Amino acid sequence: MRLGRMENRLRAFALAAVVWSGAAAAQGPSLSERLETCAACHGARGASDMEKIPSLAGQPEFFVMNQLILMREGVRPIEAMRDVVKDLKDADVLALAAHFAKAQPARTAEPVDAARAAAGASLAEKLRCASCHLPTYGGQEQIPRLAGQRIDYMIDAMKAFRDNTRSGADTQMAAVLFGLTDAQIEALAHHASSR
Ligand code: HEC
Ligand code: HEC
Repeated sequence: MRLGRMENRLRAFALAAVVWSGAAAAQGPSLSERLETCAACHGARGASDMEKIPSLAGQPEFFVMNQLILMREGVRPIEAMRDVVKDLKDADVLALAAHFAKAQPARTAEPVDAARAAAGASLAEKLRCASCHLPTYGGQEQIPRLAGQRIDYMIDAMKAFRDNTRSGADTQMAAVLFGLTDAQIEALAHHASSR
């Protein structure tokens, strides 16, 4: 399902409002049981060592909350996470988001290519990545952390934004990456992760 820009925005914010309007008491698996499930793919303590799976540790609370709701509502469907998100209560979403936001930020063990990172740095300046992701690339609100994030995941994510194939994606990133080559996207990922 693809939604228009405004519809997509409104939906995310409306859903967020539902969450904040009063979370129901948690039922079902406990937070620690749920965290064990997350760890199977996203790594122990949210630091991923799995190819193309993002780290969650250190992500802004609102970003994690927003994404989990978009996934649960089928706006950003992720096949691997279908069963994980389908029975998440609003209270679970809040607890998971708070947990990962407080966790020590993750740093990928993938090797950074210095030449590509340098090319990415000048491109990032031109495209003003830091204006949204912050100069630390720590992210804020609905904008994710890039610092330390897996390089392979960010390359895939950016190609999907550019090619408009990431379901439920905010259109800001598609606009930023419009017309970039694969090599430029790879350079940006090496730069962003190594900050
Ligand atoms: C079976 C594997 C699997 C499990 C279990 C799993 N995830 Fe994921 N998750 C993924 C994959 C794969 C992606 C990336 C999908 C993509 O390429 O867009 C993802 C993406 C995410 C994202 C988006 C992050 C970003 O930077 O865009 C969040 C948030 C997330 N998962 C949270 C969770 C939480 C919380 C749990 C536990 C309740 C969990 N996941 C369990 C596989 C999994
Ligand atoms: C106008 C604000 C804005 C600018 C400028 C911007 N971003 Fe983003 N970026 C976002 C938002 C918002 C998201 C979340 C999109 C979503 O989830 O739909 C995002 C998501 C991402 C993601 C996905 C990360 C993840 O964990 O899923 C990557 C990678 C990324 N941006 C890299 C960059 C790079 C590199 C630049 C500079 C070339 C950049 N961004 C510039 C707003 C921005």
